[in-house]
Amino acid sequence: MVLFCNAVLHGYYKNRNILPDMHTTPYRVLFVCLGNICRSPLAEGLFLQAVQAHGLQSRYVADSAGTNSGHTGQQADLRTRANAASHGLVLTHRARTFSEADFEHFDSIYVMDRANLTHVLALAHTQAHRAKVALLRTHDPAPGDGQVPDPWFGDEAGFEAVYQLLRRATQGLLVHLQAHRSA
Ligand code: 4NP
Repeated sequence: MVLFCNAVLHGYYKNRNILPDMHTTPYRVLFVCLGNICRSPLAEGLFLQAVQAHGLQSRYVADSAGTNSGHTGQQADLRTRANAASHGLVLTHRARTFSEADFEHFDSIYVMDRANLTHVLALAHTQAHRAKVALLRTHDPAPGDGQVPDPWFGDEAGFEAVYQLLRRATQGLLVHLQAHRSA
């Protein structure tokens, strides 16, 4: 029942692009990539899966967005969804474009690569907004070059590699947030 209510609430607020005002306000996390159909919707789904696995649904809200509007309204890429489904994860996100309002709506904004970082930072007008933005792989225990590679032009193995990488990084992110959040 609790899980069901959280799922309904998440869908309710997500569809209206507003966030819940509860006694303990959930921490709001946004994942950003280029198209919002491969990397960031998967990061969103994996982060929420980790949140659920730890019974922390009341403490976190997550969403994702793209810096480019070309795929707005679309479901995640078929290959991303097939790969996620092969791991038992169903992705329902519809692509949307990152906007300046997201700096106010979210507590932290995690981007997939340096191009996303440059794009998002260029839209920030205050130091407080800039301080919310980081590369997701900052929280990957094996961060490599710090970027999540774009699987769009690759093969199935590339999608699986991104899945494994994002699973590790989003779990690392949750550990980090749990350790550093005071609320
Ligand atoms: P994403 O991947 O940024 O991880 O969603 C891409 C999706 C679409 C395109 C490029 C990357 N595209 O060129 O359309």
